[in-house]
Amino acid sequence: MKVLVTGGTGYIGSHTVVELIEAGHEVVILDNLVNSQPVVVDRISQITGTSPTLAVGDIGDPDLVDRVLTEYEPEVVIHFAGLKAVGESVAQPLRYYRNNVSGTITLLERLDAHEIRKLVFSSSATVYGDPQTLPITEDAPLSAVNPYGGTKLQIEQVLRDVAVSDDRWRFAALRYFNPAGAHVSGLMGEDPTDTPNNLLPYITQVAVGRREKVRVFGDDYDTPDGTGVRDYVHVVDLARGHLAAIETMSEHRGFDAWNLGTGVGTSVLELINTFSEVNGVEVPYEIVDRRSGDSASSYTDPAKAHRDLGWKATHDLAAMCRDSWRWQSQNPEGYGG
Ligand SMILES: NC(=O)c1ccc[n+]([C@@H]2O[C@H](COP(=O)([O-])OP(=O)(O)OC[C@H]3O[C@@H](n4cnc5c(N)ncnc54)[C@H](O)[C@@H]3O)[C@@H](O)[C@H]2O)c1
Repeated sequence: MKVLVTGGTGYIGSHTVVELIEAGHEVVILDNLVNSQPVVVDRISQITGTSPTLAVGDIGDPDLVDRVLTEYEPEVVIHFAGLKAVGESVAQPLRYYRNNVSGTITLLERLDAHEIRKLVFSSSATVYGDPQTLPITEDAPLSAVNPYGGTKLQIEQVLRDVAVSDDRWRFAALRYFNPAGAHVSGLMGEDPTDTPNNLLPYITQVAVGRREKVRVFGDDYDTPDGTGVRDYVHVVDLARGHLAAIETMSEHRGFDAWNLGTGVGTSVLELINTFSEVNGVEVPYEIVDRRSGDSASSYTDPAKAHRDLGWKATHDLAAMCRDSWRWQSQNPEGYGG
């Protein structure tokens, strides 16, 4: 298939492009490089032997999107492009709603005009707010606890409404739990431009000496060791989830959502200890106050994705820790190094 990947030079997008190319699909990336670097295309090419096309520009630019759709005629879109920093979204909600929600609406309008009506959307476990029941299944109540989560919820609603208006549309919303890990080659991984929002890149930056210690936000949660529990899922497993979604798309009409996670909850201290053990490196940490908006535990029941998409995570926590460390130790400054 010819696949348009928005946000394809970003962390999850780049790993998905590799899996798409290795599965024989043809890829064009549309990314404005607000949070990624063009060198990612070279890394993809080093891994796969094929260089995907990169169109640099914004999903909110209708003329540019038109040009890309006319030139490359994709059959399906995987839509990663978006801003994702929770704290920044609290400080700059309009920028987040403009970029994520308005950008998606522009993209959908142009896709509709070009009669391309298959789209996989990067949603997030954040749409479950502070979960009331564990494990989290797709029918759990939805709520937004910050503007970033608000953009994901609103986009899902837009997709639902568009699907109702015209039954030719097929939308797969993939709600990721906690993406972690890196490509096994050590050539690609997560490269936060600022303070990492996710725990594993924070740990690797401490391990490589870029930061002094990991701050663990709270050890008095109602969890086995008191620290927050999350469902870490290897980025290559996530990438393969997108492949599964496009390959089964003809079987699903309208809008549907699937949780992508392992189903295994891991605490902050378990992750730090596993990282130290498998990589043989010290990770100093300190316990600090809880962070507002954090829930004690979040993990999924991945049964629906297994049943409908034939997808199941295959990498364990040790693999995520090993691969993240390989990436960080070979690229101490990320792609900029
Ligand atoms: N990483 C996570 O923890 C996580 C969890 C759940 C959901 N998600 C979602 O998955 C998607 C990908 O996340 P990621 O971790 O790879 O983030 P990322 O920032 O590495 O990748 C996003 C990419 O989108 C691009 N982009 C942003 N706005 C754009 C625009 N208007 N036009 C064109 N390109 C634009 C950025 O330059 C970047 O390359 C995002 O939508 C994110 O919200 C991420």
